[in-house]
Amino acid sequence: MTVTKGLEGIVATTSSISSIVDGVLTYRGYDIDDLAENASFEETAYLLWFGSLPTSAELGTLSRDLSAFAPIPEQVIEQMKLYPKDTNTMAALRTAISSLALYDDAADDMSREANEIKAVKLQAQLPTVVAALARIRKSLEPVAPKEGASIAENFLYMLWGKQPDIVSVKALDAALVLHADHELNASTFAGRVTVATLSDIYSGVTSAIGALKGPLHGGANEAVMKMLEEIGTLDAVEPFVRGKLERREKIMGFGHRVYKNGDPRAKHLMKMSLELGTMKGDTTLYDMSVKIEDLITGQKGLKPNVDFYSASVYTQLGIERELFTPIFAISRVSGWTAHILEQYGDNRIIRPRAEYTGLVEQKYVPIEQR
Ligand code: ACO
Repeated sequence: MTVTKGLEGIVATTSSISSIVDGVLTYRGYDIDDLAENASFEETAYLLWFGSLPTSAELGTLSRDLSAFAPIPEQVIEQMKLYPKDTNTMAALRTAISSLALYDDAADDMSREANEIKAVKLQAQLPTVVAALARIRKSLEPVAPKEGASIAENFLYMLWGKQPDIVSVKALDAALVLHADHELNASTFAGRVTVATLSDIYSGVTSAIGALKGPLHGGANEAVMKMLEEIGTLDAVEPFVRGKLERREKIMGFGHRVYKNGDPRAKHLMKMSLELGTMKGDTTLYDMSVKIEDLITGQKGLKPNVDFYSASVYTQLGIERELFTPIFAISRVSGWTAHILEQYGDNRIIRPRAEYTGLVEQKYVPIEQR
């Protein structure tokens, strides 16, 4: 047996959803740079699910479906009010999304049509759940979704309880496009493994949320912001980074399993971070981030990944740190569900092997003799 720790370089499936070739990320053959500049998140989600960009009529239907599905069952809201207020938001999200299945009569309907509807429903309901969780944590009543608003607008509206400004909506929409899919990343793989047993789509997305939570994956964006808060000032960057490197500690938001010459999504978030800082008249977070990048890239050759500049982008949008990874999930649920549909379409259970390294030839010893 050849053991490949972390499955690095192992090709575990075929997929026609997204690809990373020579550092270029594409969704269904469209370069992420093109989509980040031009596509809305709804168009992107449609592309991931159905394989082509929507016509106006198709986009209109999707937008109406997303609006219709956005409200969540009252029972789920009542349960969320019972969660501890200081609990990890990704843990709360994982529980809430799992509980949505209990109120969906079609949860175990494995037909293609039912699963496509549930993919759209999960996409519609995840932002409602995250906004409700955020408000409940602050002892505020959840705000019902607004009809006819995009996912980005609706999320900020439900979060803040007022109409968001156009700049914030556009910035969040672009961030959602950039995070929507990423080939066989850890959370997508977790989702695919779960549904490859022919378990339901809610179970797949719940597994994926659990995998995204970790700081080596989606949780890194919150860890980056924690680091920026800990550093505090531009002058403190250099000694902080020096200390980290001397102690051989990882710097969150840097490095990637697949990209060794830089993550193509990072430059878009970097630009957004500067634009938002400039608009607000304070580029401290951006300046600190650039200085960290210069030092880490200069000394370790590591480049920032998607999580690095998203931390300063979300903070400058006025979004609290505890919501960064849940926002990642609001976007990535489009990719997760596209992959789950693809897995169902050509399924084989995913069951690798392990090389056994434990004790051998043990004989049972009665408990009183141990
Ligand atoms: N800071 C310092 N050193 C690093 C970092 C980092 N962020 N990332 C990698 N390295 C070093 C490792 O210490 C290791 O060095 P060594 O060979 O001297 O021991 C080498 O680079 C290879 O790193 P691995 O962790 O083995 O690389 P792997 O491909 O397994 O992991 C990962 C990739 C998890 C992204 C890693 O780079 C990391 O932990 N980064 C920080 C967390 C992060 O930002 N995660 C988000 C990734 S993007 C996403 O999931 C959305």
